Amino acid sequence: MTIHDIRQKYFDFMQARGHQIIPSSSLVPEGDATTLFTSAGMQPMMPYLLGQKHPLGARLADSQKCFRSQDIDEVGDNRHTTFFEMLGNWSLGDYFKKEQLKYFFTFLTDKKVGLGLDPHRLSVSVFAGGSGVDKDEEAIQIWQNLFATVGIQAKEGVHIFPYPAKKNWWSRSGTPDQMPTGEPGGPDSEVFFDFGVENKLHELSPWKDEPCHINCDCGRFMEIGNSVFMQYVKQADGSLKELPQKNIDFGGGLTRLEAAVRDDPDMFNISSLAPVIQEIEKLSEHSYSVEEHRSSMRIIADHLTAGSFLIKDGVFPSNKGQGYVLRRLLRRAAIKLYFLTSDRESILKLPEIVRVITDFYAHPYFDPQDYPSIQHTITTEISKFSHSLDRGLKELEKNPQVDGKFAFDLYQNYGFPLEITAEILAQMGKQVDLKEFQAEFEKHKELSRTSSAGMFKGGLADKSQVVTAYHTATHLLHASLRRILGNRVEQKGSNITADRLRFDFSYTEKITDEQIKAIEDLINKKIAEKLSVVREEMPKEDALKQGALAFFGQKYPEIVSVYTIGPKNNFFSKELCGGPHVESLAELAKINIVKQESLGATTRRLYLQFV
Ligand code: SER
Repeated sequence: MTIHDIRQKYFDFMQARGHQIIPSSSLVPEGDATTLFTSAGMQPMMPYLLGQKHPLGARLADSQKCFRSQDIDEVGDNRHTTFFEMLGNWSLGDYFKKEQLKYFFTFLTDKKVGLGLDPHRLSVSVFAGGSGVDKDEEAIQIWQNLFATVGIQAKEGVHIFPYPAKKNWWSRSGTPDQMPTGEPGGPDSEVFFDFGVENKLHELSPWKDEPCHINCDCGRFMEIGNSVFMQYVKQADGSLKELPQKNIDFGGGLTRLEAAVRDDPDMFNISSLAPVIQEIEKLSEHSYSVEEHRSSMRIIADHLTAGSFLIKDGVFPSNKGQGYVLRRLLRRAAIKLYFLTSDRESILKLPEIVRVITDFYAHPYFDPQDYPSIQHTITTEISKFSHSLDRGLKELEKNPQVDGKFAFDLYQNYGFPLEITAEILAQMGKQVDLKEFQAEFEKHKELSRTSSAGMFKGGLADKSQVVTAYHTATHLLHASLRRILGNRVEQKGSNITADRLRFDFSYTEKITDEQIKAIEDLINKKIAEKLSVVREEMPKEDALKQGALAFFGQKYPEIVSVYTIGPKNNFFSKELCGGPHVESLAELAKINIVKQESLGATTRRLYLQFV
């Protein structure tokens, strides 16, 4: 079974239980400046978990592309990847604990409709109580009954293990005390697969002689799915209140499920990553079976996969925000390959590996034209870096004085991202004060607020009015560009912070000052007209027939939400979009276009600010 088979099997299973399948959202959250990347399946579902009606009903399932930049440093062991797909099923005030745990247990163990895993190899964790919420006795009882159906006498301490909030509470910001006001969350129950003490990774683990438990790091157990009972919302007084609707937020690691099916805890042997590793073996002329090369090969395989998906979702390498994370991934992959081969030329071949990634994921994620365009972006980035790589590494070796300024110079002059410098220095046994490095960086470079503050760790703030206003401005800009520059303008990506909107679109020429002025004037005229912004739900076909714009490359469900700016029969803008938006352009200030950039031959970037 490949991940494609498992994904399909899960969709079939959930569909047979009344769920509608929805496509994955982009890795770059739209209209949400609080986080750089989509890092959990529930992120795009937030409005619905909080009570907004979903056009497709109260039972939904999906496989969401996720990227966790906070895990970059962990990649290299058998289980961490920055990119992964999270299977999800959602009950929006419909079924709850009993049904959910039964669904997942059946999907895992049933030989016909599920994966046929041996239930003796499964253990579960439940919430032990805390923060004014009782121990989850109900979940314990449900699990006991489920295990009993397959002849296993489970009880606390045998297959069922309670843990405190640190392990068994889920919200985007962590434990109840860390949740901001208005944030939903709840106790959860995780399922772990037992790979056994005989597996190699366990033998190598530094923890192997410690007392083992399902949540420990010895390599024996791996979490394969998490059912969150999302029933609370944090109050201003610090307490937790029941949500008006009790939700289920289930997340299952697609690749980890394949690892369990294969009974092989090395995630890099699974169907999506094994072909990438094989290409790296060919390119580096080293074998993955040799322990000392394995970590580098895993890093290259993961980073190229993640990089390909990020580029597909509109990210370009740059010095800020998402672009900086992408740059760091690609350059780190290049350095790891360089260390494997000691040959600068070899890194120029890295982009060729992308072919196995776009081929493997052709369905459901990549179109045929994606390979050349992703390859082009990676080639441009890596060739730039390859020129200075040797010299940068020499500087690193010979310089006894490793301080923040040095790290910054290395970045300025040789393009070494800070974290990579720190990693190489650590390998050389040199002490690195990351804080000092960072401070020097901050002084010189205005890294985006979100990337430097680590807000992509799932931290969040309220969707502030200004971010919502910029989101509406995105639609105005898109519509105005098409009116002034013509219909070959197609949105390729956007990014919003509290200070500005960044907008990428297909267009080959430089935009003249007159054109910029015309675009600004048109947007400001519409804002002055105080046009209404109306949200409707309708079949995708109807929306497209009515002339609604859809985001290039994005997949949409059959029933979509559509935002129309201006009168219904003479609208200024109509776009498929999940929102949120302002209700009237009266809420917007005047805008300025402050900068334009070119991103290669076919894409341009504009920055827009409210005056
Ligand atoms: N939100 C939970 C997680 O990310 C389950 O989807 O683990």
